[in-house]
Amino acid sequence: MARILITSAIPYINGIKHLGNLVGSQLPADLFARFNRAMGHEVMFICATDEHGTPAELAAAKANKPVEIYCAEMHQVQKRLADSFRLSFDHFGRSSSQRNHKLTQHFAGKLAENGYIAEVLEKQIFSIDDNRFLPDRYITGTCPNCGYTMARGDQCENCTKQLDPTDLINPRSSISGSTNLEVRETKHLYLRQRSLKDKLEAWIDSKTDWPILTTSIAKKWLNDGEGLQDRGITRDLAWGIPVKKGDQPWPGMEGKVFYVWFDAPIEYIAATAEWADARGLDDAAWERWWRTDKGAADVTYYEFMGKDNVPFHTLSFPATILGSGEPWKLVDYLKSFNYLNYDGGQFSTSQGRGVFMDQALSILPADYWRWWLLSHAPETSDSEFTWENFQASVNKDLADVLGNLVSRVTKFARSKFGDTLPAGGSFGPQEIALIADLGARIRDYEALMAQIEIRKAAAELRAIWVAGNEYLQAAAPWTVVKTDPERAQAIVRLALNLIRVYAILSAPFIPDAAQTMMTALKTDDWAWPKDASAALRALPAGHGFSVPENLFRKITDEERADWQQRFSGIRS
Ligand code: MF3
Ligand code: ZN
Repeated sequence: MARILITSAIPYINGIKHLGNLVGSQLPADLFARFNRAMGHEVMFICATDEHGTPAELAAAKANKPVEIYCAEMHQVQKRLADSFRLSFDHFGRSSSQRNHKLTQHFAGKLAENGYIAEVLEKQIFSIDDNRFLPDRYITGTCPNCGYTMARGDQCENCTKQLDPTDLINPRSSISGSTNLEVRETKHLYLRQRSLKDKLEAWIDSKTDWPILTTSIAKKWLNDGEGLQDRGITRDLAWGIPVKKGDQPWPGMEGKVFYVWFDAPIEYIAATAEWADARGLDDAAWERWWRTDKGAADVTYYEFMGKDNVPFHTLSFPATILGSGEPWKLVDYLKSFNYLNYDGGQFSTSQGRGVFMDQALSILPADYWRWWLLSHAPETSDSEFTWENFQASVNKDLADVLGNLVSRVTKFARSKFGDTLPAGGSFGPQEIALIADLGARIRDYEALMAQIEIRKAAAELRAIWVAGNEYLQAAAPWTVVKTDPERAQAIVRLALNLIRVYAILSAPFIPDAAQTMMTALKTDDWAWPKDASAALRALPAGHGFSVPENLFRKITDEERADWQQRFSGIRS
């Protein structure tokens, strides 16, 4: 049994996430967590809300609520939606937790002790009309690297370059649009990542099995001369983690907070501590996941995120860990994703474009979305959600192939042989061939899931469903029963066992349907089918079953057109 630590990039607190966010981190991380649990591994799956920074402050102001209250409420909203999408976090933490305050201050103190913090008098943009310093992402302008005119002061969305706001050409306030800006001096702490460059490079070079998307982004910013800038890790804001050196005050930094991107990844660790706290466990319980000197040496750590998050997770966060000089766990495998586009354009939170998690669930249950999103995960390139494609996948894969098999088999079995698995006949050449085929396919599926090749794994799972359908088509128990009822019983016995095996294999993708299938088969035996032959005989003759409700319904053309129309505009 292996020990698997999984983190999903933690979603910003300000607002409900869209399906593009979901498929870029939380959902694939959940797939992987469920798969590893099913394989019998010990899994710790962590996510949280990313609660600091100006977006949170501004969203709270807009909602007319104190920022603490706003964050507490939005955390609950996001938690409820995560539950509804069946995201199986072991803990869904909050980056504003006391655990994260303490750990963030601890890391900053260690970094300072080890000489990796510089105190810098910085020139920062002050908006006279807004009467405040403007944080990086609240300055918009033209990217000096690629010329994109809507680049934010922290990062260009178009070319992923990490920026400083003073790099922007033609800067303006994103809060008011004002160009009445001036540069003022303020003291800030900088993380001296540059002096960790060699260590970071050697570490990244050792990751030969990482997705190309991950290493190419990491290397680009590492080697591109400009790439590994020392980064400011504090801000002039009221909301955030107060700057302290461990538990000591930090002279000259009073009233300032850590930059949200400094404390957010530390929340992965802090949320695991929150997990322990919530269960009344001691520090050893979470440290065995994170401290290699306290039991985490045999943990394999996987991170999931969209491509815009990669620089922070391959450079800045590892710099924090390495610079601390303490034996914290570094990521072992970093799975990153391209973007999912929406019907000819981009999903956009700020513009309210696309389908958001709450809206999605208001029209169809989670499994429909999980299946489409995962089977179209933007792994090797950006991918696109269209309603036509969604309708086609749901109707074909879920309704025609899987759903139809389950209903046909259970209904036929009940009508001919009653409420238990029939005892007659024995497996012949067709059954033996199916078992051999499934055995090989299951090995392939396992390997793809272990490698986090999500689309390929989905394709193999679909092929496994199809193989069952083809077998049934060929074995044709509904015809055979008229001439050779014993043989029809053997076919039905296998087919009912097949439903259980499908439930187990499919559960990481479509957990609710899998549970319905299991319940119909009146069993709780979720043991992974290591041996296809044994697994397809697991439920013996005489074992009871029931006919489940229809697993999946088809999406009609009218519904498709209606939804397309409803979600074509801007969410207000
Ligand atoms: N909130 C960020 C985003 O949605 C992700 C933060 S991931 C962490 O892009 F590592 F910083 F936690
Ligand atoms: Zn750019």
